Amino acid sequence: MAEYEFSKEEDKKIRDDFPLLNNRDIVYMDNAATTQKPVEVIDSWKRYYENYNANPFRGVYGLSVDATEVYEDARKAVAGFIGADSYCEIVFTRNASESINLLSTSLCEYILQPGDEIIVSIAEHHSNFLPWQQAAKRYGAKVVFFECEEDGEFKKEKLEELITGRTRILAITHLSNVLGRINDVKTFAEICHKNHVLISVDGAQSVPHIPVNVKELDVDFLQFSGHKMLAPMGIGVLYGKEELLNAMPPYMYGGEMIETVTRDGATYAELPHKFEAGTVNVGGAAALAEAIRYYEKIGFEKIMARERALTKAAIEKMGEIEGIEIIGSKDPTQHEGIITFLVDGVHPHDVAAIMDAEGVCVRAGHHCAQPLLQYLYDIREKKNTGGISTTRVSMAFYNTPEEVDRMAEALAKIRPEMGLT
Ligand SMILES: Cc1ncc(COP(=O)(O)O)c(C=O)c1O
Repeated sequence: MAEYEFSKEEDKKIRDDFPLLNNRDIVYMDNAATTQKPVEVIDSWKRYYENYNANPFRGVYGLSVDATEVYEDARKAVAGFIGADSYCEIVFTRNASESINLLSTSLCEYILQPGDEIIVSIAEHHSNFLPWQQAAKRYGAKVVFFECEEDGEFKKEKLEELITGRTRILAITHLSNVLGRINDVKTFAEICHKNHVLISVDGAQSVPHIPVNVKELDVDFLQFSGHKMLAPMGIGVLYGKEELLNAMPPYMYGGEMIETVTRDGATYAELPHKFEAGTVNVGGAAALAEAIRYYEKIGFEKIMARERALTKAAIEKMGEIEGIEIIGSKDPTQHEGIITFLVDGVHPHDVAAIMDAEGVCVRAGHHCAQPLLQYLYDIREKKNTGGISTTRVSMAFYNTPEEVDRMAEALAKIRPEMGLT
C-alpha cells in the first residue's frame, strides 16, 4: 500500500468518484487523450445550467450577473492553480489547440518579420507544430527544429547552439505525449530570455500531472486543455504575460471583445476579453474550476507519487514480457504515466485491438506527433512493424495497481496470440 501512497479507503473513494470507471468493465489507460470525469465536476456543470445559466456580461439582470461571476471566479481559480500574477493573464479557449492557434496568429502578427526564426521541438504534438509552421509561412520566417536524444532528453547546449540573432520564439512541450518525459522548461526559459527570445510552453500533458507555476518557470505563454484534467471537453486555457497579451492584436472579432465600434473601425476590450469573442463556455469554465478543486483536494504530492509508482510497476512488468521495446527513456523515473512501446512483429493497431478485447483501452498510431515518430524511427535505424506507429499506455492517479497487472496480462497474450512465441 505504502508504495502507491493511497490507502485502500482513499483508492476506493477515488474510484467511486468516477462513474464511468464503475459503469464500464474496462481498464482505461488512454488518459493522455482525455481523462474521465469525477462526479463533482459533472455535478458542477449541471449545477451551473440548473441555477446560473444566462449569457454573461450582457445582462444587467441578476441571473446574467451570476453567470458572469461564475465565469470570472473560474478564471481566478485557473490563475491561482498555475500561479499567474493576474486573472487578466488567463484567456479561456476551447482547448490547447485553439490556445496555440490564437497565440501563434496574434503573436506572430505582432513580432514576426521575414527571415525570423521560430524554434520548435521535434517532440511537438501537431497542435503545437502546425500553427507555428503556418505562421512562419505567412511571414516568410523559418522553422528550426530542436532535436532530442534517443532517450527523449532535450539538451540545453543544443538549444544554445540553435538560437541566432533572428530567433524570436521557442515553442516546446513541457511533457511530451509520446515520450512522457518532463522537459526542463525553466532552464530553456532562462536561455531564451538571455537571448531576447520568447518561450511558449505546451502544458497539455504537464498541467494534469505535475504542479506547474508559470512564475517559477518564467515562461511567457502556456496552453492546456480542460478535458485532459478531469474537466469537460470544450474548455481550454491560454496563459500569457500581461504586457505581451496587451501588445498582441485580437485573434477573433465579434461580440464582447470590443470597447467601441464605429462605421470605420473599433477599439478593443481590456484583457482578457479582447481575446474572447462571442458567447463563452461558462459551464465548462465552472467545471474546470471544480476539476482544479478536485486536484487540490487530493494534492499533487499524492497524485505524482501514485502515478510514478504505477509507471514504475508498469515498466517493470512490461520488461518481463518478451518482445516489448519502450520508446524513449528506459528509466521509469523519466515517464510521467506515459509509456509508448512496440511489440516485436505486431502492428500497433493489432496490439491495441487485442488489448481492447481484454478490456484495456490504449492508444495506437502516431499520437499526432509524426515528426517525432519519424525522427525516432530514423535515429534508431530500425524497421518497426507498422512503420512509425507505436502503442501508448497513459495512466492517471485513478488507475490502480490491479489495473497495471491487468494491462500487463493483456500485453503478455499478444505475441502468443499472433503465433510469435
Ligand atoms: C502535448 C499535447 N499538446 C496538445 C494537444 C492538443 O490538445 P487538444 O486536442 O485538447 O487541443 C495534445 C492532445 O493530445 C497533447 O497531447
